[in-house]
Amino acid sequence: MKRILTGDRPTGKLHLGHYVGSLKNRIGLQDSYEVYLLVADLHALTTNTDTSELKQNIKDLVLDQLAVGIDPKKVTFCIQSQIPEDAELAVIFSMLINKPRVERIPTLKDMLRDLKIENPSLGLLSYPVLQAADILMVKADLVPVGKDQASHIELTREIAQKFNATYKKVFSLPEALIPKDTGTLPGIDGKTKMSKSLGNAIFLSDDEKTVRDKVMKMYTDPTRIHPTDPGHVEGNPVFTYLDAFGSTSPSQMRKKVEGYKKQYRVGKVGDVEVKQLLVEVLNKFLGPIRKKRAQLEKEDKLVEKILEEGTRKTREQAVQTLAQVKEAMKLD
Ligand code: TRP
Repeated sequence: MKRILTGDRPTGKLHLGHYVGSLKNRIGLQDSYEVYLLVADLHALTTNTDTSELKQNIKDLVLDQLAVGIDPKKVTFCIQSQIPEDAELAVIFSMLINKPRVERIPTLKDMLRDLKIENPSLGLLSYPVLQAADILMVKADLVPVGKDQASHIELTREIAQKFNATYKKVFSLPEALIPKDTGTLPGIDGKTKMSKSLGNAIFLSDDEKTVRDKVMKMYTDPTRIHPTDPGHVEGNPVFTYLDAFGSTSPSQMRKKVEGYKKQYRVGKVGDVEVKQLLVEVLNKFLGPIRKKRAQLEKEDKLVEKILEEGTRKTREQAVQTLAQVKEAMKLD
């Protein structure tokens, strides 16, 4: 069975954008692959050295994934900081890649701009090198990531190649698995991306009232002043969400969505009605997720146990890989 590794920085609760962009895909992969899900807590430090919320964020990250249907019996959850071999590999890999090469990686520029960082830490600069170690320590074949992370997988391949050429063939080259048809989910403010830091997210764990309040505030079609004006469905986040989350709704609801689209275009239905339908659709989608999350939260030390067991298993792989690496380098 082919092996997959992917991961997330534990920076807070997961939202609908995460669901559309990665979680949905992960749920599908867990049956056909050997999947490792890494909690990249060291990576979280690259942009925020404050660790006061880290433990809670790790717990939320795992709970949210379990709540949407990722099954800890099928996948292996592991925690980066508890796998010292990962960091050791990263140090070794950092010698194989030059500084201008990492400085050219587009995600670095994006982070500096978005987070208004003037002087990146050395850790932020070497972020993709640590990511390469995450992937190569378990010798993953495939790495599901968003489009923006493709450059990191490319670097991982370069590192693997360079290692093999310099010392001995230890690694095969992993491939990025980039989902095709998932456009980015816009935020409730209509900005292109839903993101916690932009404050425009609906979280998977938001309660019914919070979902309602957020939807009612949502940005719609700015060109439409009166409900009788013809409106735009394309590019209107309310309809984008209805399409993204309505597909699993009862057929009656789906019909209503299609009906509203037609009416909206000709100015026969108001924003409020459409938003009310979205509240229903989202609460129908989120209901079972909230319920499962609440049950899991009650189980004592559940997340801790899952992480402990998964990390032990992952570490066994990492120990083996590091031994091969050191042997190839005559560092044994
Ligand atoms: N860089 C990824 C992100 O920001 C998180 C991550 C860390 C990751 N290690 C990884 C993804 C290894 C895939 C493989 O989303």
